[in-house]
Amino acid sequence: MSGAAVTCDGSRAMATEPPFNQLCCAKVRLSRTCHERKSATLPFMCGIVGYVGSRPALQIVLDGLRRLEYRGYDSAGVAVVDDNVILTEKRAGKLANLEKALGERAGDGIASGSTAIGHTRWATHGGPTDRNAHPHLSADGRVAVIHNGIIENFGRLRAELEATGVEFISDTDTECAAHLLAAEVRALREAGSELAGPQLLAEGMRRTVNRLEGAFTLLATDVAVPGAVVAARRNSPLVVGRGEGENFLASDVSAFIEHTREAIELGQDQIVLITPGAIEITDFAGADATGKEFHIDWDASAAEKGGYDYFMLKEIAEQPQAIADTLLGRLSERGEIVLDEVRLTDQDLRDVDKVFIIACGTAYHAGMVAKYAIEHWNRIPCEVELASEFRYRDPVLDRSTLVIAISQSGETMDTLMALRHAKEQKARVLAICNTNGSTIPRESDAVLYTHGGPEIAVASTKAFLTQLVACYLIGLHLAQIRGVMYADEVAAVVDRLRRTPDDLRDLLGQMEDVRALARDLRTASTVLFIGRHVGFPVALEGALKLKELAYMHAEGFAAGELKHGPIALIDEGTPVVCVVPSPAGRGVLRDKVVSNIQEVRARGARTIVIAEEGDNAVASYADHLISVPRTPTLLAPLMTTVPLQILACEIAAARGHDVDQPRNLAKSVTVE
Ligand code: G6P
Repeated sequence: MSGAAVTCDGSRAMATEPPFNQLCCAKVRLSRTCHERKSATLPFMCGIVGYVGSRPALQIVLDGLRRLEYRGYDSAGVAVVDDNVILTEKRAGKLANLEKALGERAGDGIASGSTAIGHTRWATHGGPTDRNAHPHLSADGRVAVIHNGIIENFGRLRAELEATGVEFISDTDTECAAHLLAAEVRALREAGSELAGPQLLAEGMRRTVNRLEGAFTLLATDVAVPGAVVAARRNSPLVVGRGEGENFLASDVSAFIEHTREAIELGQDQIVLITPGAIEITDFAGADATGKEFHIDWDASAAEKGGYDYFMLKEIAEQPQAIADTLLGRLSERGEIVLDEVRLTDQDLRDVDKVFIIACGTAYHAGMVAKYAIEHWNRIPCEVELASEFRYRDPVLDRSTLVIAISQSGETMDTLMALRHAKEQKARVLAICNTNGSTIPRESDAVLYTHGGPEIAVASTKAFLTQLVACYLIGLHLAQIRGVMYADEVAAVVDRLRRTPDDLRDLLGQMEDVRALARDLRTASTVLFIGRHVGFPVALEGALKLKELAYMHAEGFAAGELKHGPIALIDEGTPVVCVVPSPAGRGVLRDKVVSNIQEVRARGARTIVIAEEGDNAVASYADHLISVPRTPTLLAPLMTTVPLQILACEIAAARGHDVDQPRNLAKSVTVE
């Protein structure tokens, strides 16, 4: 599809390990018809890139899209402005399909124009087709638009536009924005507006977004305004990259990091106009506005596979560094834990009498571990809840409730909605997030960023371990402010945390047996995971990884619950992964898990046992023994999770699956 006129869619631990443990317990389908709109679910989680400068824009945009492909990979498209023509190409399927199509065309300027926008889409409903792929053009072919979000009043707008004779080509809400923008620009011209060029386009965008309801990031180019891209954002991510004689727009910085490390985070309801020499930010009312400038300290290689077969393997290998980075600078000279942004007083935190943790997916499992640590160190109740369930059961919240929202992306809609509900109830909200300037931290009262760097693989690994570290730090911070732990006790835990990267490096160097085991398990029909205490969420996470990546039936259980049902699943040869607590930490716990291992073995299970180095007694119960470095009980998930990540990744690879982009999933789920 091409041509000048072509065409939407984001953790108490004790016993024989006195030093640490004693310290621890110190105290759309859219077009159908507009009438169907209410029941329609829109494609809504996409990657967006824009470029203006003097270099050929197409390759820059395609490279950016490749880094954003984790956001969606159902279809991709580009629009390039060159010599008063907008050239577009778009294809259903992965970016490779688009690149192939682009490779087959030649000589029409698409490879040479120096203004471009590009899009990669993740559909939640409806078939991803060439026709529904972005960009979308206005009926007159003058304006090209790409979109991430949902235009909620799309049905009304479409009917209005159709009544004026506009014919819709696609089933998307985005196409409305294209037609509206063209109409607004035209109306401004016809009314003899004093504005011209880029300013006219920006004003057209302002008028357009003021007619839209919902969440959106929109980027647009106009055939009559080469050298300009205009963008608007509401409830959907957008960052600006500031170059030398060139500027960039993208859903996240990884898209332009190889060109510039200077970025601007846009505020809510802002419009940004980029030209090669300028970045102009205004609000939806037309007043001058500013974004928040920041320097990106990742390097370009952080966004590449770095020699690994998969981003996931690279990200697993990066975990020691990610933990070290997350711990960097966290202890002040006065021995206090340092958060990144705090809009709460110490008294607010002293008043906290209950903690809720809200999160989804892997982040929820991090929250489950956090519960053990926070309750143990603080002696206040802490509940963990799936963000998608939280607000619907009308939780009891007030000013003295602390809600901790954990999210790698900072954009997960379920978590964001739960956070907003908590704020409405006057609770204090603290975010743990890996994405600077994303919506969840922006709307929270305090933030602790995990410095994990970009996580590209859909299945979360380094984000999980850094979330655990962040949870420990917050548990310690609370305990310190509340006066239940002394500075030296906090420092001792932080010190122990600082040793985990080295332990983890050792562990990662000994994973060859796990890889061999993975190849052996690739034909299993069911894999079960059991654990107790903090080993329970680890079991859940191990099972989740296997489901996500290997598309195998996998279940995680609290080991004590086995006898209440799940044990019936065990048949001759059923693989059961058993997460064994440290004998040094809580001997009772460990002995109970060992009993559970014997129970499953007696019923024919093939046991894969993850146990601490030196726990030799456990070997006789293991068909496969995976040893992990000695770690205090509460911190053990930082070790025990890792073999499970590798197991899932290798089984998936052995089964021939796309490890980084598993079917039906997306990295950032911006739909409820
Ligand atoms: C998706 C991802 C998971 C992630 C979850 C929560 O389901 O596939 O890997 O754990 O969202 O994402 P968040 O960005 O909020 O941590």
